[in-house]
Amino acid sequence: MKAVVIPKYGRSTVLEVREFPDPTPGPSEVRIQVKAAGLNFAEITARQGLYPDAPKPPCVVGYEVAGVVDLVGSEVNGLSEGDRVVGFTRFGGHASLAVLDQSLALRMPEGMSFEQGAAIPVNYLTAHHVLFHIGHTHPGSRILLHMAAGGVGTAVLQLLQTVPEVQVFGTASASKHDYLRNLGCAHPIDYRSQDYVEVIREVLGVRAGLDLVLDPLGGPHWKKGWSLLAPTGRLVAYGLASAVEGPKRSLLRVARAFHAALLVTPFSLMNDNRSLQGVNFGHLWTETERLRPQFLRVMSLFEEGIVRPQIHRVFDFEDAAAAHRELEEGRNRGKVLLRPG
Ligand SMILES: NC(=O)c1ccc[n+]([C@@H]2O[C@H](COP(=O)([O-])OP(=O)(O)OC[C@H]3O[C@@H](n4cnc5c(N)ncnc54)[C@H](OP(=O)(O)O)[C@@H]3O)[C@@H](O)[C@H]2O)c1
Repeated sequence: MKAVVIPKYGRSTVLEVREFPDPTPGPSEVRIQVKAAGLNFAEITARQGLYPDAPKPPCVVGYEVAGVVDLVGSEVNGLSEGDRVVGFTRFGGHASLAVLDQSLALRMPEGMSFEQGAAIPVNYLTAHHVLFHIGHTHPGSRILLHMAAGGVGTAVLQLLQTVPEVQVFGTASASKHDYLRNLGCAHPIDYRSQDYVEVIREVLGVRAGLDLVLDPLGGPHWKKGWSLLAPTGRLVAYGLASAVEGPKRSLLRVARAFHAALLVTPFSLMNDNRSLQGVNFGHLWTETERLRPQFLRVMSLFEEGIVRPQIHRVFDFEDAAAAHRELEEGRNRGKVLLRPG
């Protein structure tokens, strides 16, 4: 098989395509011929050396794939050779063959393309998890969504179509505001020219607050988001994007983000009636009984027309460096995908 390799930390130009022996699935695993694989921000930071969970270089990353089953393990039930499936890989997805645990590989609905399939797992499971599993989103919720025009943000806005009368404040650069409005975001905020705290206070009034803050930015944004919460409000922290800017790693930026972090204690949580929750999907991998029902729900919402993965562009493995740059430079509106070519 062939795979996109991170041979060492550095700029996107370090990426290489290399040949490897074909993998063999374990008893409860399936092997699939990958037709499309998702590229995520985490994999950009893995290449930059800023993602501690990623394997050490040389390594093959990639969390999600869609393709055709070509080998099944001896204990696999319900999946067979030739099935079109979508699922999670704990790294190793940016390859022409990938091995998946059967519990996190689902047969694709008819009408779902491989590109749509590969765009679903990380973005939509994250979105579903932060909104419903831990965010307790309810009718009438007031929500601040950062990085609203990105892959997770788009998924959040689509899934919110299942909840009546939510009011969303979404941060994104101005050129993406029409895109956000079309997805039901009532208040797009240009974070480059506006202070979102001021905008939200102006709209809601100083006394009212938010029910949910969805924050993949971290650093100083945790404190700002916390200050906007209403009693019983929740802040969900799921990223540290504010510490990653530009093509190379900067430990200084990471240190600054930690320095600016929100400090809460059980006393302050209790007295403020607020909650803080973290999400790291990479660490939820083995929690299949929590993830699989959410995955099935997302697939059924695809069939209902609510989940509509936005594909930004598909790159051949040989053009993986250009794909990385597309995400790194924030040019994407929707999912960047890789394919073996
Ligand atoms: N913890 C987890 O398990 C988990 C899972 C999935 C994703 N994540 C995290 O979630 C974040 C979003 O992922 P994604 O895949 O949706 O990213 P994405 O598709 O690459 O979208 C990122 C977009 O956010 C915008 N952006 C950048 N800086 C911003 C800022 N300061 N304020 C508002 N918008 C900003 C950029 O567009 P504009 O600047 O043009 O608006 C960029 O295109 C990443 O940090 C990722 O690591 C975490």
